[in-house]
Amino acid sequence: MKKQIRNNVYWIGKVDWELKMFHGQDFSVSHGSSQNSYLVKEGKNVLIDTVWGPNGKEFIENLEKEIDLKSIDYIVANHGEADHSGTLPMLMERIPNVPIYCTAQAVKSLTGQYHHPEWNFVPVKTGDVLDIGNGKKLIFISMTMLHWPDSMATYMTGDNILFSMDAFGQHYACEELFNDKADKCVLMYEAQKYFANILGPYQTFVKKKIPELKGLNLPIDIIAPSHGIIWRDDPMQIVDLYEKWSDSYKEDQITVVYDSMWNGTKTIAHLLADEIREIDSGVKVKVMSISGDDKNDIMTEIFKSKAIAVGSPTIVNDIMSSVSGWLHFLKELKFTGKKAAVFGCYGWSGEGNRILKETLTALNYEVIEAEIKSNWNPEEITVKDQIKAVAEGLIS
Ligand code: FEO
Repeated sequence: MKKQIRNNVYWIGKVDWELKMFHGQDFSVSHGSSQNSYLVKEGKNVLIDTVWGPNGKEFIENLEKEIDLKSIDYIVANHGEADHSGTLPMLMERIPNVPIYCTAQAVKSLTGQYHHPEWNFVPVKTGDVLDIGNGKKLIFISMTMLHWPDSMATYMTGDNILFSMDAFGQHYACEELFNDKADKCVLMYEAQKYFANILGPYQTFVKKKIPELKGLNLPIDIIAPSHGIIWRDDPMQIVDLYEKWSDSYKEDQITVVYDSMWNGTKTIAHLLADEIREIDSGVKVKVMSISGDDKNDIMTEIFKSKAIAVGSPTIVNDIMSSVSGWLHFLKELKFTGKKAAVFGCYGWSGEGNRILKETLTALNYEVIEAEIKSNWNPEEITVKDQIKAVAEGLIS
């Protein structure tokens, strides 16, 4: 069922309450999600994006209740990823000649995925304009790497709507669609989790793109992303947040993450958190288990932190495989401007701390010299000085 966004612009997507994981099993979805498609019925009828293939049959049935498919004049594919383009093959079987407006890169990604080079692609770039009648126009804006090289946004004049694709989105299901109807805490958490885990690797692109977007001086009344809620109450708040988040973002927070074999390294994690609180009651401290907590939630906390401490016991002359895998994910996210410290227990050889330090240094963390290294299980009295030194190093 369509929902009105403004005047002749309608939402026609899928609110997916059941979705638990996204990007295969790589991103946890805690509050549902949506794939937002938009139908514009002006002098010309335009469909902006579709939904993921498994939801395609339902999508087309819903779309047909709102419009004769043959009267769709243009399709805009803001991005080639399957969650937005997955229904194109089904749709193009029905309306094979309708032009698809997308970037040149999206021609490649759509052809690569669906193998239909005969589709009527119309490659566009920033500033290209499509007249849709009734005095309204669509203006295309390249959004390279927000989220793929093929991404773009589409701005609609007259109604002043920016269809921003993945940018400014969240995995958050909300039938009422708009940010003023959403649970603000959940919305802002999900927006930040999305940014940290999905756009984190492309922060340098975001940092360049936001001033460019603002510099276009387009009046923006509504930002309609392709996932989650639509920003109509103070829509530029999310653009301002992206500007902040893409600039080595940090809050007054220290996050301690660890994995542990027999709870020795876990004990250090909690002693360290206590010491940080003792020295500075103002700083927010969080302790998270690499194997016990959701990895995307952990990364959201790391993203917010000014400093982190990473712990692993030594096992077979190395760190735990869970911690290695977690560090690989941390590397992908390319966070910058954060301090780090390491800690861990060992029984025999004790290489864990050195490996953690080398890895975090290679990831551009400012690794402090102080560390906590405990032979066998830590006793508070024996690790006290090391814990104090690390806590002070992270706070300062
Ligand atoms: Fe929501 Fe990059 O796709």
